[in-house]
Amino acid sequence: MTDAPIPMSLLPDSAVVGDDGRLAVAGVDMVDLAHEFGTPLFVYDEAHLRQRCRDAVSAFGEGVAYGGKAFLCTAMARLVTEEGMRLDVATGGEMHVALAAGVDPSVLVFHGNNKSDDELAAALERGVGRIVVDSFDELDRLERLTSGRAEPQPVMVRVTPGVEAHTHEYVRTGQVDSKFGFGIAAGDAHRAVARVIAMPSLRLVGIHAHIGSQIFLLHSYAQAINTLAAFMRDVEVEELCLGGGLGVAYVSGEETVPITAWAGELRAACRDEGIDARVTAEPGRAIAATAGLTLYRVGTVKEIPEVRTYVSVDGGMSDNPRPVLYGSGYEAFLPARANAPRPRVVTIVGKHCESGDIVVRDARVPADIAVGDVLCTPVTGAYGHSMASNYNKVPRPAVVFVSDGSARVVVRRETYDDLVRLDEP
Ligand code: LLP
Repeated sequence: MTDAPIPMSLLPDSAVVGDDGRLAVAGVDMVDLAHEFGTPLFVYDEAHLRQRCRDAVSAFGEGVAYGGKAFLCTAMARLVTEEGMRLDVATGGEMHVALAAGVDPSVLVFHGNNKSDDELAAALERGVGRIVVDSFDELDRLERLTSGRAEPQPVMVRVTPGVEAHTHEYVRTGQVDSKFGFGIAAGDAHRAVARVIAMPSLRLVGIHAHIGSQIFLLHSYAQAINTLAAFMRDVEVEELCLGGGLGVAYVSGEETVPITAWAGELRAACRDEGIDARVTAEPGRAIAATAGLTLYRVGTVKEIPEVRTYVSVDGGMSDNPRPVLYGSGYEAFLPARANAPRPRVVTIVGKHCESGDIVVRDARVPADIAVGDVLCTPVTGAYGHSMASNYNKVPRPAVVFVSDGSARVVVRRETYDDLVRLDEP
């Protein structure tokens, strides 16, 4: 039914629609929350986040990491590591956030295709658990920076198995033509492994492969595992990390594969291929996406007869660039009437100076949507806040965690003063 209310499967685990039709998450009313903390607002169901971390840890066991790029702040770095996950950081900045949060450096996995001398030196000095080596230039740097150290630095070698995962081109990473990792087919992966083994200041603990993101078709992984198995026959390591990538449902009709099912498939495929290394992964989106939602306020409704109705909200491409970047689809609904049918089709846009500033192109919404309504786009917990910008000098939204009937701000809203904080007077 096309005018159906928002499906509960797209909402956080603790979402409940009351008899009055209002949406509460973890016992906190979403409209009241928008009034209290302002809009746009990122809201996360803390219990949902913790449950996904527990699912990952129970499915993969020791070594599974959270892909911090999906959503990272002090509270999130603490949450995932409290739940027993490692934390994948992809830059010196992400590493800094994790360390500033008090995360034990030994649980950090340091990624990146262009790690600078400074970033590598900081990682070595702080005792980061694993560095995932991505290029021969990085090996040169590591050789220089680690020579003479008493303890060898644990490293993984990132390889590209040469598969084209079925996902958006911009988030595909396992193909031969990639800026990431060492190609297996061309022999670079073998050469990188040989170099690491020959370096006494490094200790090879694993092989890493991340084939892409928002992948639903698990056979892409099976293909990668097949190539990896042949490669791993010649390489003795404790661990094979298959990266992140598990797809989540963003709109009605899509179905999220549970982390436990994904883990089961990956492990079975590895077993079938004779891989005896411990299999781990680095989910980001699968942990954070559905746990989070965005609350906006409707500012204008512009009806262009026989063309389209534009509903403008108080954020847009600055808090969610995914529709512009990848053509990603979302749903929208009104948390004050969360079980209302949504017969009307409108285009939800932001407040930026671009026609491409679309939040949801053909959104189904209740017929009586009006200026002043709080509007929600669910499944914005991953790659929303983390990719947010200050375009048009729009301050970045606050982030709130809700749990057991209460809300706490974990990232405060930027102010206008923050917008000139870095400018020289
Ligand atoms: N590990 C590595 C090495 C990665 O590069 C990534 C994501 C992950 C793990 C986590 O992947 P996930 O489980 O979240 O798919 N901005 C894009 C997604 C970029 C993904 C980058 N790497 C988006 O909004 O769809």
